[in-house]
Amino acid sequence: MNHQTRVYDNIFELLPTEQNPTPLVRLNQLNPMPGFPLYAKLEWMNPFGSVKDRAAWALLRDLEERGLLTEGRGLVEPTSGNTGISLAALARARGHRLLAVVPNKVPQEKKILLKIVGADLEVISDELCPAPGLGDGSINLAKTHAKASPQKYVMPNQYENAKNVEAHYTTTGPEIWRQTEGRITHLFVSLGTCGTVSGTAKFLREKNPDVKIIAVQPTEGHDVPGLRNVAQLGVSKLFDAALVDDILEVDFRLAYTRAVELCRHEGLLAGPSSGLIFEGALEIVRRDQHGHGVMIFPDNIFKYTSNLVKHIPELGAGLQP
Ligand SMILES: Cc1ncc(COP(=O)(O)O)c(C=O)c1O
Repeated sequence: MNHQTRVYDNIFELLPTEQNPTPLVRLNQLNPMPGFPLYAKLEWMNPFGSVKDRAAWALLRDLEERGLLTEGRGLVEPTSGNTGISLAALARARGHRLLAVVPNKVPQEKKILLKIVGADLEVISDELCPAPGLGDGSINLAKTHAKASPQKYVMPNQYENAKNVEAHYTTTGPEIWRQTEGRITHLFVSLGTCGTVSGTAKFLREKNPDVKIIAVQPTEGHDVPGLRNVAQLGVSKLFDAALVDDILEVDFRLAYTRAVELCRHEGLLAGPSSGLIFEGALEIVRRDQHGHGVMIFPDNIFKYTSNLVKHIPELGAGLQP
């Protein structure tokens, strides 16, 4: 591989490392505080389009190294889309199959993308996910498959697997530290499986215990795929409250309006979870006024056009369905 000329022998060599980081881009139009530069880490520049490439690669490699992907046995994993897309693409490129268990509310674009990259799809109804009092429907269903047919399926389980955290401890954290030359004062992240926050925060806190870790959550009843609101956080065994300074709860509709602002004013084609993180960062730059902020932008807008039209109807105005 050669990162200088960007010529590679296979797609795996493109996965992010300290030597091949995803870009960090400063906001120039929408940040009201000149004394508090804000940088976006563009995770959609990963080869399969999201932050989840990092966890998916770590989970897959671990299963391979432990010899768990034997002849005839593939993976099963619950996913809101991005993990499934990364995992299916990586797995297929290495000769394995993935059954993705997907809640119905996941945007159509993501379900189709999952099929395009070769995942087998099991879509479960909205009522099942999350099933009140019964945990999370998609997670339980994937566990059931892995238990009932161990000869057919192994489940990496991104919600409980320490490799998810380790992926960010060994890549995202070191990348940010190097890219900011140790100047980072605030990290802004969202919470899904919590692999991103726990791994990145652990690394940065070891480098500088004063780095503030700000998690941004959507209000209850949200439809920001990939994220969990505080009431849903119990599902992730990877959340470590000691690693988070503030949890901000943001009206989920702002995820969509802020994402469109980033597209229109910064040329950053940010998806809704990035929009939500940006809203949280705005609150903090106004409060703290000085600092050096990094926002991890998990994916871009392309997978969310149907959700966007629902929240911002004028985007669809005058267009034939
Ligand atoms: C779009 C999007 N944003 C944010 C996240 C949250 O990342 P993590 O699972 O590492 O907490 C995810 C996770 O699936 C995601 O798909």
